[in-house]
Amino acid sequence: MTVTTDPHRPAPIAPDNRHLVGVFAPQRDETDATDLPVTGEIPADLSGSYLRNGPNPRFDPIGSFVFPLDGDGMVHRVTLEGGRASYSNRFVRTPMVELEEERGEAIWSGLTDGYTPPASVVGEELAGTTRALPDINVVRHGGRLMAMAEADKPYLLDPRTLATLGTEDCDGAMRVGSTAHPKIDPRTGEMVLFNYILEAPYLTWSVVAADGTSLRPPTAIDGLDAPVMIHDMALTEKYVVLFVCPLIFDIAAVMAGGSLLSWRPDDGTRIALIPRDGGAVRWIHAEPFWVWHFANAFDNADGTVTVDYVEWTYPGGFAETGVPNTSGLMRAAINPTAGTINRTRVSERTDIDFPRVDDRLLTRDHQRVATVGKSDSDTGFQESLWFHDVAKSAEVSWSPGVAIGEPIYIPGAGQDYWGAIGTDPQDLRSRFYLLTAESPEDGPIATIDLPIRVPAGLHGVWLET
Ligand SMILES: [Fe+2]
Repeated sequence: MTVTTDPHRPAPIAPDNRHLVGVFAPQRDETDATDLPVTGEIPADLSGSYLRNGPNPRFDPIGSFVFPLDGDGMVHRVTLEGGRASYSNRFVRTPMVELEEERGEAIWSGLTDGYTPPASVVGEELAGTTRALPDINVVRHGGRLMAMAEADKPYLLDPRTLATLGTEDCDGAMRVGSTAHPKIDPRTGEMVLFNYILEAPYLTWSVVAADGTSLRPPTAIDGLDAPVMIHDMALTEKYVVLFVCPLIFDIAAVMAGGSLLSWRPDDGTRIALIPRDGGAVRWIHAEPFWVWHFANAFDNADGTVTVDYVEWTYPGGFAETGVPNTSGLMRAAINPTAGTINRTRVSERTDIDFPRVDDRLLTRDHQRVATVGKSDSDTGFQESLWFHDVAKSAEVSWSPGVAIGEPIYIPGAGQDYWGAIGTDPQDLRSRFYLLTAESPEDGPIATIDLPIRVPAGLHGVWLET
């Protein structure tokens, strides 16, 4: 192939873009470091790794850049073992990253400007493609460690080196793609996932057995007449739970030069309860609201379903309605027989998200949910972790005074912990904080200095070794 420069290559994004500087600035170094400095003490019996993914453009982006949609994936790993800590990070090397590394600059643009590179620049195979974005989450299941994208196939990672091994479809269960937020049922070991697609039937769900084989190939979810964007899902022992909020892909609008996504509150939000045994989908209507993330869901003895999630007024960044957009931790009581949903706020905290529970309790009742939010002294960053006791409607918080990311529950031998990575917006140093699950408001029992800055990112997981 003769390499040419595309005269239509989009212009570089302004380097002072808010999401390309400070705690968001991409990290271009890849490193491995051992015996990291620790303040406090790492429990000697804690053995495992905290892994986290996030958008991290390999080269200065061109065309468009929307945080947190755009950017290449970078997986960060903090390993705790024998009271000591080590760190590694690697780019998720998609074909786009590999070709850009050959050329030394960005070739693909962001999701929203509509540019795709021609064959004269990237060859026939990659011509017309958009950038793969396995930068949202990292999941281990059925012997596979995967960097997850949204509505696309994940990339398989070498669990030892974090090297990228290629795309993965989980024995066909992710043949048409997957949400970045599949749910693993701790009771059965099954991984359940959904995927949205732009053509009918618009939504599918699949199941991967504990051993990594496909138990249910992509199966149509009946009841939709338009393509919708859905970011996360919930799972109970009986149901796959999808909240279908009215954010619609509008292909006609894109062809006319408009926006790809359209917020249509008149449609309301519809809840799909998909019986895991394969029965008919139950649809329940609610007023319009938006959900990025679920904490957990479970079945009750009377047949109702409880879902804890963070509810937003609308999807900020994708819909401008002129009214303030705020979020809160909610509990939905859904009656599949009566077709009703009753939503109640379980915390007065606003502007929170990234809800997590002890993953061992997925599909079953839980007492604690952790979220990330702003503190009362608003610095403009998410700088506080909130720990909600949903049984007692009480909450405590801890704020390191730095930009902090998603808290992950870490089961220990004697006691359990929460872990999170934060970056100081002043000196741009990143640290891993280990808090006890019992008294997280007391602050970290161990603070680990990371060898390089970890950009503000998205989701992760604790993997015991
Ligand atoms: Fe997410």
